[in-house]
Amino acid sequence: MSLLQSFRAWFHRKILRDRAALWNHQYSRGRWEFLKLPLEIARFDACVYLLRRHAHAGSWLEIGCGEALLQRRLASGDYQRFVGVDLSSVAIARAQPFADHRVRYFVADMQQLQLNERFDAVIFAESISYVPHPGQLLRAYARFLNPAGVFIVSLFRNQRTAHVWTEIHAATATIDQVTTTNTVGTWDCEVLRLR
Ligand SMILES: C[S@@+](CC[C@H](N)C(=O)[O-])C[C@H]1O[C@@H](n2cnc3c(N)ncnc32)[C@H](O)[C@@H]1O
Repeated sequence: MSLLQSFRAWFHRKILRDRAALWNHQYSRGRWEFLKLPLEIARFDACVYLLRRHAHAGSWLEIGCGEALLQRRLASGDYQRFVGVDLSSVAIARAQPFADHRVRYFVADMQQLQLNERFDAVIFAESISYVPHPGQLLRAYARFLNPAGVFIVSLFRNQRTAHVWTEIHAATATIDQVTTTNTVGTWDCEVLRLR
């Protein structure tokens, strides 16, 4: 095994497992319960609106799906196929009751995702900011998009996510967007295509 391979093996064993453990711990302790509050609904509905506009009745992949909160806001005719993945097995266990013959949830790291399917929309709702190079990730995710497929990215607006958007926009062009503001703050939800 080369030095690089050993480093990769160590990185996946130690760092990624620790990240999953951290998310599991936080979900178990209720750290993310606030995502279910009414004040979060508008930013989910911005994603739903854009999904219906750009990928209606298509196949959708949600990355960092958590507890299936986005899917819970959908009508069954919105999609013909829905796949949700998340690093946290605790979150996925809570998403699992919403799976059916068209809907599948499973645990995976978005940076290691293996899927033999392509989708009309790949959605990152408040999740792409957890990888170090979001622009690179989107380029690599071209392999999961149908020819006319789009990315839909939603992020809470702050200094950190401003940098994330800069990196995303270096790799993609925005073809539609919705901004949502309430007493919590502002979320930007964009429909993107690779440049
Ligand atoms: C802030 S939560 C957002 C959850 C949900 N998408 C929402 O909009 O409410 C971020 C989610 O991303 C997941 N996540 C973080 N890093 C990840 C990774 N590398 N691969 C897959 N999911 C990841 C977390 O487990 C968590 O469920």
